[in-house]
Formats: sequence, C-alpha cells, structure tokens
Amino acid sequence: MKDCMGREIEYLRLSVTDRCNLRCVYCRDGSEQCNKEKELTVDDIDRIVKSMVSLGVNKVRLTGGEPLMRPDLEMIVKKIAQNDRIKDLCMTTNGQGLSYRAKALKEAGLMRLNISVDSLDPARYSRITRGGKIEEVIRGIDEAIACGLYPIKLNAVIVRGENDDEIDDFIALTKDRPIDVRFIELMPIGKLGQDKENRVPSSEILESRSYLKRVMPRYPSQPSEDYKVEGYQGRVGFISPMSHKFCNICNRIRLTSDGQIKPCLGNNGEVSLKNALLMGDEMLGAVIRKAIFNKPEGHNFDKKFTSDRVMSRIGG
Ligand code: 5AD
Ligand code: SF4
Repeated sequence: MKDCMGREIEYLRLSVTDRCNLRCVYCRDGSEQCNKEKELTVDDIDRIVKSMVSLGVNKVRLTGGEPLMRPDLEMIVKKIAQNDRIKDLCMTTNGQGLSYRAKALKEAGLMRLNISVDSLDPARYSRITRGGKIEEVIRGIDEAIACGLYPIKLNAVIVRGENDDEIDDFIALTKDRPIDVRFIELMPIGKLGQDKENRVPSSEILESRSYLKRVMPRYPSQPSEDYKVEGYQGRVGFISPMSHKFCNICNRIRLTSDGQIKPCLGNNGEVSLKNALLMGDEMLGAVIRKAIFNKPEGHNFDKKFTSDRVMSRIGG
C-alpha cells in the first residue's frame, strides 16, 4: 500500500530480538535493558507478517539485535517463507555462530544474508565488537555460500580513526568473490554517532578512488549507490543516510522485537501492536494500515535528533 507521501511500502525490517552476543562500540555497551520476555512469539510474528503481506509487503529482512540469539529463528523463517507473495526473505547478522545454522536456515526458506563486519583484522574486530571472533564470521560466510545462502553483502560502518584505514582491504574482497561490500555512514544513533568527527562521508571515500566506477542500482529503491572496480566480481556500495538523504524513495517499515511499528529510523514515533494482537486480525490489520499510512516524510538526523532507542533495540 501507499503511505501518505505516495511511497509504495513493500519492505518490512523485522527485529526478532534486541539481544546481541556482541557490543559494537558505536551500537551498545551492554548496559541497555534487553527485553527477552517482551519478544514477539513465532505466532505473533506470523500474524503480523500475514497482515502486512496482504497490504503489499513482499520483502522481509530479519534483524536484531542479533537474530541468531533466538533458538526458534528457523521456525520464524519457515512461517514467513510460507507466504507466497514474499519475493525476498533475508537476514542481517553479525555472523557469530552462523556456520552452525546456515543450512537449517536455508532449508527453512531464508534466501540470502547481509553480514555486519567492521574490520578484517582479528584483533581489531575483537576490539570493535568487544569480544567477537573474525574467524567465526569467515566460517559463517563459507558455510552460507556452501549451502546456497547467497549473494552475501558485507556491511561496514566506517568510523574515523577506527577502521577508515581498511577501506581498500574491504574493496579488495570484491575481486574474486561474488560478495558486495557496503560502506555505511555512521548515524547519530548511539554514543559514537553523536560526534560528527567520527563520521566519514561517502564522498570522502570516493574522492581519492577514481577507479571506482558507478554502476546501475540492482533495485530502484535500494539505499546504496553502487560502484565497481573494473574486472572485479562484487560491487562496492555506499549507504549515505547523512550526506544523501534517500527518504523520498524509502519503501520500508520496521517492527521492533517488542511489537512496535517504527515507521522511520530517524523519528521516535512508534505504534504498538501489542493490544491489537489481543484483539484479533481485523483490528491488527487496521492498526498496521494506519501506521504505514502515517509514515513520516523523512528522518530528522540533521535537526538535533536523539534516538530513544539504540540500534540494537530498533533493528539495524
Ligand atoms: N550508524 C550506522 N549503522 C549502525 N548500525 C548500528 N548502529 C549504527 C549507527 N549508529 C548498524 C550495524 C549493523 C546494523 C545492525 O546496524 O553496523 O550493520
Ligand atoms: Fe550487535 Fe549489531 Fe549492535 Fe554490533 S551493531 S552490537 S552486532 S546489534
């Protein structure tokens, strides 16, 4: 369905938990309250997704926190995959523990993965994520490809002084593998993002790399601008919410793990589905329809916006 700005909303980013096994320096420090007991059940998720699909949603991304924290993730995937009108069912994960579950997730109906990885250096990866193991991520990628969970996109949030010296190493990954790498501008959500100095605008990365050639986007409403090094297999994408507002083509809606629709990342507005879930599917549909229709025009990152939730509690 269209929202009040005429944008066709087709893409649900579904957070299944706000728990995470890592504490990336720009995201969370572990002091945040996690609400395991408030997490939507498989049945709740099934009902919400069905309702959204009937309103035109055809792509679902599972996010968190870390989706793999849920032991019933395969069940969630299976339920969502049963909706014929879902064309794309994917997940964003940090890759820790992925190798053990990639096969079951693929069999349940998951189609592809985005993996967050902010450094390729083992010691630095561990420092940025406060305890993560890069070998786990690599094992996860290998296993995912082996069982048909691809294409894979790797997402790196570039933070000045933290990993901006690894940009060329990330680009090099696209040479021999069908892997896309995407650089994401740090947003003012979480502590590090509050300080502009920590941000590296996409234009700065592109400026000194004229060998990156612009290519056509894969999808019309994708947030990244894509580039390629000639002869390389994968792409290099830039997601620039700060320097290139793409709200006018936004086709997404978010659901938090505690059952709130969050129509826009850069606004604190939320619509709770908790009561509607108790009241039956007709009411649920009506509340969802209204929340989608009222999606705000755009984010407020340029207007001293402070997010009530850190990224792990929204769904990255
Ligand atoms: N700015 C940009 N991206 C962020 N993420 C978390 N916090 C921020 C932020 N402040 C990203 C993670 C991951 C996803 C869960 O959200 O790197 O890719
Ligand atoms: Fe966890 Fe992702 Fe946040 Fe890192 S960025 S702490 S992996 S939710």
